Amino acid sequence: MCGIVGILGKGDVAPRLVEALKRLEYRGYDSAGVATVVNGHIERRRASGKLGNLAGMLQQAPISGAVGIGHTRWATHGSPTEGNAHPHATDRVAVVHNGIIENFRALRRELEAEGAAFASETDTETVVHLVTKYLNAGLTPQDAAAATLSRLEGAFALAFIFRGEHDLMVAARRGSPLAIGWGEGEMYVGSDALALAPMTNRVTYLEDGDWAVLTREGAVIHDEAGNRVERPVKVVSVSSVLVDKGNHRHFMAKEIHEQPEVVGHTLSTFYRPMTETVELPAAPYDWAALPKVTMVACGTAHFACAVAKYWFEQVARLPAETDIASEFRYRNPPLVKGGLSIFVSQSGETIDTLTALRLAKEQGQHIAGIVNVPESAIARESDVLYPTNAGPEIGVASTKAFTCQLTTLALLAIAAGEARGSIDADERKRLTRTLAELPRLMNVALHLDEVMGEVAHDLAKARDVLYLGRGAMYPLALEGALKLKEISYIHAEGYASGELKHGPIALIDENVPVIVLAPSDELFDKTVSNMQEVMARGGRVILITDKTGAERAGDSAWHTIVMPDADPFVAPILYSIPIQLLAYHTAVAKGTDVDQPRNLAKSVTVE
Ligand code: F6R
Repeated sequence: MCGIVGILGKGDVAPRLVEALKRLEYRGYDSAGVATVVNGHIERRRASGKLGNLAGMLQQAPISGAVGIGHTRWATHGSPTEGNAHPHATDRVAVVHNGIIENFRALRRELEAEGAAFASETDTETVVHLVTKYLNAGLTPQDAAAATLSRLEGAFALAFIFRGEHDLMVAARRGSPLAIGWGEGEMYVGSDALALAPMTNRVTYLEDGDWAVLTREGAVIHDEAGNRVERPVKVVSVSSVLVDKGNHRHFMAKEIHEQPEVVGHTLSTFYRPMTETVELPAAPYDWAALPKVTMVACGTAHFACAVAKYWFEQVARLPAETDIASEFRYRNPPLVKGGLSIFVSQSGETIDTLTALRLAKEQGQHIAGIVNVPESAIARESDVLYPTNAGPEIGVASTKAFTCQLTTLALLAIAAGEARGSIDADERKRLTRTLAELPRLMNVALHLDEVMGEVAHDLAKARDVLYLGRGAMYPLALEGALKLKEISYIHAEGYASGELKHGPIALIDENVPVIVLAPSDELFDKTVSNMQEVMARGGRVILITDKTGAERAGDSAWHTIVMPDADPFVAPILYSIPIQLLAYHTAVAKGTDVDQPRNLAKSVTVE
């Protein structure tokens, strides 16, 4: 995750860009840079390390210019050097970027073949050379930016400034957030309203796929299809900016929609896209020699572990066990000598998980933490920390922390698999590539928002709901049921599809909707048979599948939700989106308190 800012100002903007970047430092701080247009030319200053280094550099060598962009970086593609720091530029255009350009390899090959000379290892530089190519072909800056955007795949936010253009900036978002700020004779862009807070409280949040042409007069916004669109200008209060809901009614909705960005961010912690490798921090254990991995957590975090059990077993051929922390800590489990125990927690403070950690430590286990709050107790007491970078999760129902936990666990399973020789380099590359596609696929899945709202309208009338899944989709069925229960107060149960006949089928009638999570994988036909059994008993099925699955299942389901095609390995992460949206919209339809459901607390620090 990186931070972006842009200012079309009245005087020199570089010091103000640095000020705004300070408020974005929470998004990344391994290098920073600014670029402005000075006497028609693009000037840049970039520095590795914290923002202070850039500020120092600007003091020694200031730059003028009333239009400029700035960036604070969290390295994804390429190490955190000055050469890889943003803005990236040619003599015609400078660009700042947050997110992942998925097809950068193919674009880079194409551009290099045409003579472009790349100066960095970043995916961002492909954007710069594409715009330059279109400018050189005679397109206007706006058209060159639009042509470039149409070539990019991935989830990202971008801001561009151009040589010779003192009153122009182009900004675009697909997946990653971007806000436009309205000043008095000035205009701004920023990754969030916090970056813009001291400059203006009038903010327009770009919708997914939007791109905007800014001058000091205002902004002309286009949607992905190129149509001119109006987006509301909101007045945000200073206090609300700190815990900003953006365009959303609830934090939960905002956090669901943040997932392409934060999953990309979490991925970039250990995934190196240039080499398609996973680089984990040094650890006092060797994945190749581990006899067993034991994963312990509560609630949603426990379901992330339950999905990961499939990955550790299948990808790494590593015996894996999961347990609920409140059970683990009291059942005095015999732990295999030299084993690794992984404790997964958003807050890092859940008392049962923390106590379970201490128990495993006493028994001489290696201790790893997967935690979203880096200064938390579980983080501090772990031998090795694998942080999730979901950012603060405010909605009580966990959403983005869950998918970031899954992303981290998937990376660990790949690293373990390679270390143990159960996968080779080609398979590692294939699997990491499927993870790199996730932010874009999640963004596509988020377009189901409206459809899920309609399905939720029907679901809100139910008293009981069943969720079914097979393989790694089984724990996701459990998570789907938990999400629905906790925020809509509808009773829900998750089952392994194959268990249906062993009891729960007795519940089926036309009043109990059954949600079937079934991507078209090798288990699909079996799940369709279970679905038929449900429908034969008058049950109403909501099938969540992909295009092939929808075709194979026919049209007998009550609702069929068609997801983007995805490799089975990442399906549990991707299919989290529809189950979260369904729970969210059902709760909204029922009018419950989505962000603070009754009886629940965000961090459970008592037994
Ligand atoms: C459900 C939910 C809870 C938490 C659980 C563990 O939406 O949020 O089930 O997952 O209380 O909390 P952490 O992850 O903070 O240990």
